[in-house]
Amino acid sequence: MSIEIPVGLTELLQGYTVEVLRQRPADLVEFAVQYFTRLRDTRSQDGGGAAVKLGKEVVFDGEPMQTESNGDDEDGSDESDFEPPPPSRYNRRVSVCAEAFNPDDDDEVEEPRVVHPKTDEQRCRLQDACKDILLFKTLEQEQFSEVLDAMFELRVQPQEHVIDQGDDGDNFYVIERGIYDIVVLIDGVGKCVGQYDNKGSFGELALMYNTPRAATIIATQEGALWGLDRATFRRLIVKNNAKKRRLYEQFVESVPLLKSLELSERMKIVDVLGMKTFSDEERIIMQGDRADCFYIVESGDVKIMMKSKTKMTKVNQEDNAEVEITRCSRGQYFGELALVTNKPRAASAYAVGEVKCLVIDIQAFERLLGSCKEIMKRNITHYEEQLVALFGSSMDLK
Ligand code: CMP
Ligand code: CMP
Repeated sequence: MSIEIPVGLTELLQGYTVEVLRQRPADLVEFAVQYFTRLRDTRSQDGGGAAVKLGKEVVFDGEPMQTESNGDDEDGSDESDFEPPPPSRYNRRVSVCAEAFNPDDDDEVEEPRVVHPKTDEQRCRLQDACKDILLFKTLEQEQFSEVLDAMFELRVQPQEHVIDQGDDGDNFYVIERGIYDIVVLIDGVGKCVGQYDNKGSFGELALMYNTPRAATIIATQEGALWGLDRATFRRLIVKNNAKKRRLYEQFVESVPLLKSLELSERMKIVDVLGMKTFSDEERIIMQGDRADCFYIVESGDVKIMMKSKTKMTKVNQEDNAEVEITRCSRGQYFGELALVTNKPRAASAYAVGEVKCLVIDIQAFERLLGSCKEIMKRNITHYEEQLVALFGSSMDLK
């Protein structure tokens, strides 16, 4: 299925987004009504048939738009000319948003389909390595096959830098095996901020947002990777991101945990998340496992169950039976505890009926949800209280 983005749509939304980031209105919908009404009025003053001035070129006549929170105007600057905002973190992120949103502009779009022939054995290994890659989870079957066709095998040696921070992005990588350190320069000093252990993928950011590589990836041992060239990545994955934004933007806006994030930050989460479906009773998380991702329930209910160690005594008694602690429904999250505490999963999670979850991997969780960790940590105290109420004894989850 091909989706055609109408001419002007990107600029239209970009203009609105820029204005939201500048004025930070409390009510986005109300603000949108005002923004687009004025845009239409400007156009009809232009004579109706004239080309619509979009994005940065929209000039409003006089005063800034009415908003409930105009805190940004405190410096007394005159907003009437609607100049592009000064270079700031908002400004930078807007351009990042727009890029991922508008893959059709990419001159690489017309590149021919890339196919690296593979043996059956290679294809099996590739399919296995790719089966849990979140960025591939929302692709149509046909797009996924194209991705698999275009991937090529790479062997890496101990201490080899697969990616160097600051370089241009060439490929996206899926790990078949090996351990890879993630090193980020902080105040000029390289700091290991995480590790990929025999699974996962990396190298998507530079390709998605046309930015320099944000980290150095170093193989700590001999390993094997699958590469996907930039052009194919942009043609298939980045294009799919526009669809993902349309599908999940509204839902992500409504998730209480993510309320404190800025719009552009929520969009970056949407760009990298995956969607997983579970059938009734299917186990999503197993208590004691190592954690590598975080979940937000999109539909259905999830049952959190914990093994009660106090029931292990008498012969006929069910050993280590699981007790239901709580349920998570639409908009709620689970699976954060092990990521925040660096411990194994504290409980198991099961689908009740068919369940759909948004899934975020541990690296994206660390990178994009750092500012939400305080909220999550506060909730851990609540978990501990729940456990005291259920099991009688206190448990230190932290
Ligand atoms: P990219 O910037 O293309 O190249 C380096 C990759 O490291 C980056 O994409 C991510 O896929 C990955 N990565 C993992 N953790 C981080 C992090 N904390 N900051 C930046 N990049 C990270
Ligand atoms: P995690 O330990 O990663 O995996 C199991 C999840 O169950 C845990 O994160 C929490 O998100 C969720 N959970 C809900 N209630 C509790 C509780 N009382 N104690 C521990 N985990 C809980």
